[in-house]
Amino acid sequence: MGKAIYPGSFDPITNGHLDIVRRAARMFDEVYVGVLINSTKNPLFSMEERVSMLEEVLEEYDNVKVVSFDGLLVDYCRQNDIHTIIRGLRAITDFEYELQIAQTNRVMAPEVDTVFLATSLQYSYLSSSIVKEMAMYDADISKTVPESVKAHIQKKIHART
Ligand code: PNS
Repeated sequence: MGKAIYPGSFDPITNGHLDIVRRAARMFDEVYVGVLINSTKNPLFSMEERVSMLEEVLEEYDNVKVVSFDGLLVDYCRQNDIHTIIRGLRAITDFEYELQIAQTNRVMAPEVDTVFLATSLQYSYLSSSIVKEMAMYDADISKTVPESVKAHIQKKIHART
């Protein structure tokens, strides 16, 4: 099915993101995981840290590559001949925001479509913000992120406190 890009802040990657990448990798020949700037968020990890955590976790997938860039997602799609954007949908609360982004991208680049994957039930409560909040209060985050990411979060949060 050609190429697709799964964009996000990934601050940091959670098991919910990982589940979407795994499923997308089965559907498309090549999946780009794009670490982008969300102008409304103040990230915990630098762009380099987020990319390196993703590379570590996604190493086993031959058809997945991690990329990062500034600027508009649709410009990157055009430059790299990508016609599909993948986003995960957790609940109805995501829908309004996701539809707005998808439609904005479509107005700017009608040749690029957004495909939504329904988040697996066991991850429907999960977000990077929730994981960071849990870690801040020393809650057990083992079920929410890959083991290597857990270590990075704990190190980062303890360095700040
Ligand atoms: O994981 P997030 O924070 O929900 O991802 C949002 C993201 C990074 C995909 C979105 O903010 C984005 O596409 N940023 C790049 C700039 C862009 O293309 N904006 C146009 C869409 S409104």
